Amino acid sequence: MNTIENYSKMIEKEIAAFSFPTSPANLYDPLRYFMTLGGKRMRPMLTLMSAKLFHKSEAESMYAALAVELFHNFSLIHDDIMDEAPLRRAKQTVHKKWNSNIAILSGDVLFVKAYELICKNPTHLIPALMQVFNRTAIEVCEGQQMDMDFETRNDVSSDEYIEMIRLKTSVLLGCALEMGAIIGETSIENRKALYDFGVHLGIAFQIQDDLLDLYGNPEKVGKKVGGDVLANKKTLLSILAKSKASEEQITQLASLQNEQNEDEKLAQTLSVFESLQIHDHCKIEMSKHYLFAMAALSSMSDSIASQELEELADYLFHRDY
Ligand code: IPE
Ligand code: IPE
Ligand code: MG
Ligand code: MG
Ligand code: MG
Repeated sequence: MNTIENYSKMIEKEIAAFSFPTSPANLYDPLRYFMTLGGKRMRPMLTLMSAKLFHKSEAESMYAALAVELFHNFSLIHDDIMDEAPLRRAKQTVHKKWNSNIAILSGDVLFVKAYELICKNPTHLIPALMQVFNRTAIEVCEGQQMDMDFETRNDVSSDEYIEMIRLKTSVLLGCALEMGAIIGETSIENRKALYDFGVHLGIAFQIQDDLLDLYGNPEKVGKKVGGDVLANKKTLLSILAKSKASEEQITQLASLQNEQNEDEKLAQTLSVFESLQIHDHCKIEMSKHYLFAMAALSSMSDSIASQELEELADYLFHRDY
């Protein structure tokens, strides 16, 4: 078994062992359903791998790792309401299977459970863990609000977009790594290097998520194909397309925003993106952040071997379509 499968099995086992109450069923069934749908579990892996760099065992970093995964799942349940997404991890989203009120509440429970887990760490580490976690949780909300505000704006720049995804996605990867470093009781410099690695990894990861939304294999991605285009989401694809388009294409893209026929909207958008080589331009931007991530990782004190983190980063960017 390779490193990633090994970690993934360990995390799944811990998640399967959670015992949520049975009543009220409409509160706990949805979160049990969602938590056991799978997922890559990359954020808890980052925490475990980060702590391991400083010779801390999985047993010592597992609470923090699981806290990050619970927070992530809470944010996905709420994100799917906000994005009106029908599918997640190839299954019905919680708000579709039940309803939005149920999805809001069961998401909230996961958020609180994350705090419960953080509080199981050694007392002297809790303030530092809480500080990073709380700052991150607020930043994720800021990013999610910016994402929604962007839906109705037509002048979003690529810098604003990168800032939005740094907040909605990347800081949580940074937080996962930094929490591992806090448990590892390492230097501030190493903590920062790992956080920066996570942030750039997260930016590259979200650009890839945007690409997969349109070009991915729906069975592997487990979400509705073209969901971002259909919802007029601002992604790096749409922002770069607008900046490179001819006058005529700008008019076409603008009128496509109101196109009601989903197949037509997707086909025409894809054709404009294709003529502007948007896929390749996004890949270049993604690779830039992947390299920044690697540079941050190698800025740590030289006695620290980070093969596992490199392996995970490599695995994430070779997810196929
Ligand atoms: C989805 O994250 C949300 C984004 C930040 C793009 P993942 O792709 O890590 O979701 P799971 O947990 O593996 O399903
Ligand atoms: C998700 O961004 C970010 C958070 C959940 C905080 P997306 O909306 O792009 O994620 P997916 O594509 O639904 O997984
Ligand atoms: Mg979404
Ligand atoms: Mg979203
Ligand atoms: Mg997405």
